[in-house]
Amino acid sequence: MRRITRRIPRTARVPAYPVVEFDSLVWVFIGDAQSADPATVPRAPWLAASGWTTVRGLEPLAARYGLLVDNLLDLSHETYLHAGYIGTPEVAETPITTEVDDDAGVVYVRRRMKDVECPPFYARSTGIAGRIDRWQDIEYHPPCLYLLHARIAATGVEPAADGSDPHAFHAEIVYAITPETATTTHDFWLVARDFALDDVEVSRFLADSNRTVVLQDVAALNALESVIAAEPAGCQELSINIDTGGLAARRLLRRQVDA
Ligand SMILES: [Fe+2]
Repeated sequence: MRRITRRIPRTARVPAYPVVEFDSLVWVFIGDAQSADPATVPRAPWLAASGWTTVRGLEPLAARYGLLVDNLLDLSHETYLHAGYIGTPEVAETPITTEVDDDAGVVYVRRRMKDVECPPFYARSTGIAGRIDRWQDIEYHPPCLYLLHARIAATGVEPAADGSDPHAFHAEIVYAITPETATTTHDFWLVARDFALDDVEVSRFLADSNRTVVLQDVAALNALESVIAAEPAGCQELSINIDTGGLAARRLLRRQVDA
């Protein structure tokens, strides 16, 4: 047998990065390998936990990742962009509360809707026929992990005093926001649910619907990216009250970039 040389040409090398796998996601640390610390990775345990079923996908986005962050932190756009899926008039009409944990580096945006229309996304997946109480509790861990804790219940159904919530439906909508270039992004999306766990029809419906919703965002953000590229220098951005969460996110992102 001929002896195979083990010598690897020096120029054939590629950079290597530490990786760690949590909750069905692979995290890549692209900084100095010595300072990689798995303890700093934010978690999304529902994605790989028993008692939950997850559907997922990846759409390429021809826009900078920051535009996706802006989009996800202002869900009032659901009313206009995602009507017939997750958007109803009440989303844009209901005020939000925004909190920032500067030490932990997390932005929280909450919208609690009472006695509202149930959009098809939740009506068909949960089987709820009437009006609902609908919670949208966002938790954004810059730069990469976005968690939307969604609670859907027949109007008037409240969580128990001990915090358990057996008569409500819960969905964890997760985005693993992965920059590709300065102006393109891998838009990884996941929807985990704690109901209809083995129902393949519900899985198919949620996967198809959420992909459609993501593609509606992709079309809007791609258009926005081309508008930015065509803008004359010195254009000024206008922010309004609903952008509070997005502006807080940008501040934390700026801090991370500076560090
Ligand atoms: Fe959207």
